[in-house]
Formats: sequence, C-alpha cells, structure tokens
Amino acid sequence: MKLVHTVKQVRDFLDSKKNIGLVPTMGALHAGHERLMEMARREAAVRAVSIFVNPLQFGPNEDYSRYPRTLPQDLETCERNGVDLVFAPPVEEMYPLPQLISVEVGRLSEHLCGKFRPGHFRAVATVVIKLLNIVQPQRAYFGEKDIQQLTIIRRMVTDLSLNVTIVGVPIVREIDGLALSSRNKYLTAEERKFAPTLYRALQEAASRIRTGEKDASKVREAALSLFVNSPLIRVEYLEIVDPDELQPVATISGPVRIAGAIWVGATRLIDNVTA
Ligand code: PAJ
Repeated sequence: MKLVHTVKQVRDFLDSKKNIGLVPTMGALHAGHERLMEMARREAAVRAVSIFVNPLQFGPNEDYSRYPRTLPQDLETCERNGVDLVFAPPVEEMYPLPQLISVEVGRLSEHLCGKFRPGHFRAVATVVIKLLNIVQPQRAYFGEKDIQQLTIIRRMVTDLSLNVTIVGVPIVREIDGLALSSRNKYLTAEERKFAPTLYRALQEAASRIRTGEKDASKVREAALSLFVNSPLIRVEYLEIVDPDELQPVATISGPVRIAGAIWVGATRLIDNVTA
C-alpha cells in the first residue's frame, strides 16, 4: 500500500491502471468505511481511499477543528482491507487558490440536512468531483448513511455526464442499531445510551407505514413520540421523503425513505431507513 499527499503522486501511481475503485472519506475510519472498502476490494483491481477533512463542507460553527484525525490507525485499517493507494492531501493541495468555481446542487440541497447546513452539499459535491477528477476511478463507493449526499452525487454524475459508476452501500450499525459514524466518538457514556433512539424512531415510522398508515404527519408524530423521555436529545428533523429526490411527501403511496437528524448534547447524528 502506498500513501501519497499530492495530486501528481496520485497520477504517477495510477498512470494507465484500469478498473480503479475510489472510497472518499474524511478519515477516523470505522467499520462503515470498511464495508465500502470491502465492496471496492470485490469489484476493483486497484483500490484507492482518500482521507481529507474538507474544510469547505463545515459551517463556521461546526466541528471542523475538533473532527477526529487518526491517520496512523486509518492507514492500518486501509492496509487490512486491501487498499493499494491512500491519498491524504493537505488543504493547500486540494485548494491551491480560493475556490471560485463549484458545483451548484439546486433543490436537492434545500431540505433535510441541507436546510440546516447551508453550503454544505455544494462543498461536498465540489470536493467529490475534484477527487473523481484526480483519481479518475471507474467506480466510487458511498454509504447510504449519508443518503442525501449519495443522492446528490448520483445526480451530479448524471447531470454533469461524469464517467464513473456510483455504488451505494447499506448502513453499518452497532448491535443496538446506532449507525456507525466518526462523530460517535464525541458521545459521553450517558449520551451514547440515548443515541440509538433515532434508529428506534425511524423503525417505528417504518412499521407504521408497513401496517398501512398513509398519512405522513401521523407517521412522524408516532416516531417523534419516542423522544419524549430523552432529555439529552433535540430532534433537528424527521421526514418521510420520496426515494428519488428525497422531497417530503404528505401521503405515502409507494416506497419512501424516512430520514432524521438529532442533536445528542453537542453531537449531531443522522440516520435513515426505507419503508
Ligand atoms: P465520511 O463521513 O468520512 O464518510 C465517508 C463515506 O463512508 C461516506 O460515503 C459515508 O456515507 C460512508 N459511511 C459513513 N458511515 C457509514 C455507515 N455507518 N455505514 C455505511 N457507510 C458509512 O461522507 C464523507 O466522509 C464526506 O462528505 C466525503 C464524501 C468524503 C466528502 O468530503
């Protein structure tokens, strides 16, 4: 496995190699990221992982400066998972000049997380298109945990005619249902006990839908009732959305995704399920 820090080193290493798979990450790697690497190992001859905590996708009051940075352990994780190339650029390598040109995401970024994180998805789409241009993989792997991100990347590939196949990977969870996330490290022992309530609420919503409830506001109410005895939690949103554009629906008439974001103390967690 090779560790590189510059775009030129990536290009030199990959040169004329074929069938490249890319797993873009911000590091602090866990079993969710490992699932993406496993998929890449199965499908791609050359496996690349990028590790870059992208400053532009963090809001001014978000956790950029305290985001966990664990490069030595991350390299071990990559090695264990059959990764050939790790690209860990410094910020100046990715943004040698102030970024004037970026990918506009339109209505896909106006709701769910986008509503609470203005500019976030523009910055995500922009860094992802840069990583795709640097590595030029045939396939790139993204988790369903960040369903709005995955939806936007898929749409970017279509709308901008990018020559890459996007592979969506199901969510990896702890035994109690909590979706794995680099941010779970922030949780205190007390907060960790309450954190799985988000998944339980999403499952409650899914079960109401499966047993025939069509009114999205009733489904939401049932799900939100699970938080009444969780004083450490503040719900940011819990929405029932269509599976294509993730726009909220009022009446459930086909497959939907139920997506939520909560604050547990000072930590923001997201999750989603299908129904
Ligand atoms: P990061 O949060 O490090 O996540 C990297 C990838 O791992 C994303 O595609 C994410 O959806 C996936 N992932 C995280 N937790 C997961 C879980 N529990 N199960 C399955 N997949 C999971 O997402 C980003 O980084 C950044 O926005 C990035 C795309 C790298 C652009 O900066």
